Amino acid sequence: MKAQLTKMFLAAYGRAPEILAGAPGRIEFIGNHTDYNGGPVLGAAIDRGVWVALAGRADGQRRFTSDQRDGIVTLAPGDQAKREGSENWVNYPLGVLHALPVFGLRAPSGFDYLATSNLPAGAGLSSSAAIELASALVFAEAAGERPLRETLVKIGKHAENNFVGVPCGILDQGVSGFGEKNRLVFIDCRGPQFATVPLSTGAHFWIFNTHTKHALVDGLYAERHGECMAAAKALGVELLVDTNLAALEAAKPKLKPAVYRRAKHVLEEMARVEAAQNALAQDDLAAVGRLLTASHRSSQHGFENSTDELDFLVDALVTMPGVFGARLTGGGFGGAVMAMTGADFGDAQAQIIAEAYGKKFGTRPDILHALTGDGARLL
Ligand code: GLA
Repeated sequence: MKAQLTKMFLAAYGRAPEILAGAPGRIEFIGNHTDYNGGPVLGAAIDRGVWVALAGRADGQRRFTSDQRDGIVTLAPGDQAKREGSENWVNYPLGVLHALPVFGLRAPSGFDYLATSNLPAGAGLSSSAAIELASALVFAEAAGERPLRETLVKIGKHAENNFVGVPCGILDQGVSGFGEKNRLVFIDCRGPQFATVPLSTGAHFWIFNTHTKHALVDGLYAERHGECMAAAKALGVELLVDTNLAALEAAKPKLKPAVYRRAKHVLEEMARVEAAQNALAQDDLAAVGRLLTASHRSSQHGFENSTDELDFLVDALVTMPGVFGARLTGGGFGGAVMAMTGADFGDAQAQIIAEAYGKKFGTRPDILHALTGDGARLL
């Protein structure tokens, strides 16, 4: 990737880059909508991501380009404004530049910047967290700073929450930051605290991207967030992680039915993350797979963040030999399903699923076979 990135940078700016970095996309393994409720979550960094190259400029100008967009976006010194329209991708690195001083770090003044990616866009694999983490690495390095990994993660989340304007939890940036090959990232989101746990090399990921997206996806994410906070308030706690199912059952009569269902999903999901950790420690992929599918069923019926397309894929996948389990991955309301499989599940099986899906919905999902990969790093 180094050589390719250098070549692209040379072609765009006519000179060599000085700093290179990469950060992976992520799969939400299990722990659906647990992060902003202070609970645990397991994610996997995958072997695809975003790469960024940078070279300093003395004149204070900041120039941004990407192999996926035409032209160069040039910002004059001091121009901090959010970008609109086709330039809005620049808000990710720009958000990171804004976040650096919030964490007591210097930001570079002038530079030429290039980003490239082999993550399919809109597949729910968090290309946004990947570009934030890779950008944070090159900017910090250019400014002579060496932040802790945990700080990089917080910078990415801060950029996403406060500059880009998406009220996500810590999952995406945490996994992109702390990912490791053949390991899953465990996040105790309240701390937050980060750790990794081994994942058998026999586990493969297949991602089926439906390219469907609920028109109200952002509003629905915020609505679910609000319902979870309402449940916590009614139960007399700050976050759902501080209560339990018995307390929820006792409070059921005073909760709106939808609020009760959302909280039940989150509390049961927290227990599933713990159960998955135990099953992983035993290297029992069949048990882990059952938990993944149970998570999906709970999304389908309790949190109601699944769709007909995602349910169809899960239903089809779990009947196939070699599939340990399958679930929607990420926020939901469209997007992608991930299946954890053994090495015996291959492209031929994936195509059978895609074809059945095509017959029902008229379009084929994109298929991606991914393995675990390493977290954000300078190259
Ligand atoms: C999105 C958000 C994450 C997390 C998931 C749901 O991917 O970005 O922070 O809340 O949804 O688990």
